[in-house]
Amino acid sequence: MKVLSGIQPTGRFHWGNYFGAIQQYIDLQDEEEAYYFIANLHALTSIRDPELLRQHTRDAALDLLALGLDPARAILFVQSDVPQVSELTWLLMTGTPMGLLERCHAYKEKKDKGLTAEAGLFTYPVLMAADILAYDSNIVPVGADQVQHIEVCRDLARSFNHHFGDVFVIPEAKVLADAAKVPGTDGEKMSKSYDNTIEVFEDLGAQKKKIMRIPTDSRALEDPKDPQQDHLFQLYSLFADEDPKQEMAAMYRRGGFGYGEVKKQLVEVAEAFFADARSRRATLENDADYVTGVLDEGAQRASAKASEVLARAQNACGMG
Ligand code: ADP
Ligand code: TRP
Repeated sequence: MKVLSGIQPTGRFHWGNYFGAIQQYIDLQDEEEAYYFIANLHALTSIRDPELLRQHTRDAALDLLALGLDPARAILFVQSDVPQVSELTWLLMTGTPMGLLERCHAYKEKKDKGLTAEAGLFTYPVLMAADILAYDSNIVPVGADQVQHIEVCRDLARSFNHHFGDVFVIPEAKVLADAAKVPGTDGEKMSKSYDNTIEVFEDLGAQKKKIMRIPTDSRALEDPKDPQQDHLFQLYSLFADEDPKQEMAAMYRRGGFGYGEVKKQLVEVAEAFFADARSRRATLENDADYVTGVLDEGAQRASAKASEVLARAQNACGMG
């Protein structure tokens, strides 16, 4: 079985990205043949500053490697380093019904707000389909928000196969556990778009300040509280072992505690949880050649596979 997923370099990774996606990608690398890429072509639909896009792409690679993505077990590459995918996108685009793309949420949401959308945003799901089909992927781990795009990919692949023969492997989405559940500092879903994120590799001093400023409810100190309803407790639970987590939950139910204490403990568990990754990242930051080497090798291996699939598709539809 071949697993593939992509993650957009649209900002530094936050706790939601880590627990909702990255941690699970890393776990999967032990089970299956895995391809992971940094989706810079997709990010170009929203980032129009070349230096920023380059920096986020580089940071994404460093972050993923520091967090445990292992190039000996998974192929890590940058999307634009495999141009075959863009060629495959065109082949798929020729058979893509407009109506299918009109229903896709990224485009639809922008249009419903009365904003003008670019063709890149409109055709985004076709590029994503090519990303998946180019490597004969079987399983695509994604957050719930991306399931619609996997459905589009399956539709396009089936339709191409119907016209031109058995060219593409039909992939399946694997919806990540608890995806979309990590709360941000305001209690809403943590997301770059809501300005409520805590970044994985944020400066520790800045991170502490941010955590200590998380708004909490104004109930009296002594009131018992339901831990499951509190976003500070939910964040703490991401990091804490079972015993301290149960103790914290009991403290909530008893009441008589201050949120300041919970915040302090959250600062500590989060720092300890990512301590090894932080030190790996610091080492990688000083080893630009290693990181470039990993991405180059990843791109070569991914290109070799994508060339084979592209040739198969081109042949089938009357080219070459
Ligand atoms: P953002 O909402 O910050 O722009 P992305 O859409 O780039 O984040 O997220 C990339 C992936 O990270 C998503 O597909 C999803 O699986 C995961 N993810 C993002 N935010 C969260 C969250 N708050 N909780 C759980 N998973 C999340
Ligand atoms: N669209 C995905 C996201 O925003 C990123 C992505 C691009 C992707 N191509 C992909 C995910 C292919 C899975 C497979 O999260």
